[in-house]
Amino acid sequence: MTQTTHKPVIGVIIGSNRTARIGAAVAAWAEGQLRRPEYDLQRIDLATIALPFLDEPEIPAHGHYQQPSTQAFASIIAGCDGFVLVFPQYNWGYPAVLKNALDTLYQEWQDKPVGTLIYGHHDIQADLAIRLVLAGLGMRQLATNVGLKLRPTTTRATVPTDFRPYAPLVQAMGQELALRLKHQ
Ligand SMILES: Cc1cc2nc3c(=O)[nH]c(=O)nc-3n(C[C@H](O)[C@H](O)[C@H](O)COP(=O)(O)O)c2cc1C
Repeated sequence: MTQTTHKPVIGVIIGSNRTARIGAAVAAWAEGQLRRPEYDLQRIDLATIALPFLDEPEIPAHGHYQQPSTQAFASIIAGCDGFVLVFPQYNWGYPAVLKNALDTLYQEWQDKPVGTLIYGHHDIQADLAIRLVLAGLGMRQLATNVGLKLRPTTTRATVPTDFRPYAPLVQAMGQELALRLKHQ
């Protein structure tokens, strides 16, 4: 009988859902830097998943999910061993769609390594805001997190060239993820 070993899965969560967003282009570029033999990447696009805003009768920490949308999202997140959150800074915070996704579940996030890749036009203050939430969920945030500065001219098409200087940092995040997965 052959024994199959589980290859870890890193969920790359796209945490913006505006129609005109650049988030999907940023995530696609980040995936190119994060790809490693130790794990598979799974893109989790919150715009496509389109979760309702907290419509469960019980609080998520109880884990008694009744809505099919919550159950489906819980099974995606439970199937991941770690995460990279790719999201823009909105008014020094994180997008509501990302907070809603995080709040929708509880134990499925716990004890898992997570890195953040935040983009914006100014200094990345949203790093502070998301740290508290991830700690509250009992996640293990990486030491290597990335703040990407947009240029006034950045579009979806220019993301790969504009962000090229950050590539080594995103690759280092992938390296740390692989290490954390090995030792967990
Ligand atoms: C509601 C809103 C608030 C924003 N607030 C900030 C901010 O506080 N700091 C910043 O650097 N950029 C801010 N921006 C600029 C975004 O980071 C930039 O537009 C980015 O492309 C948005 O990501 P998205 O296209 O994936 O939605 C804001 C954009 C929006 C839509």
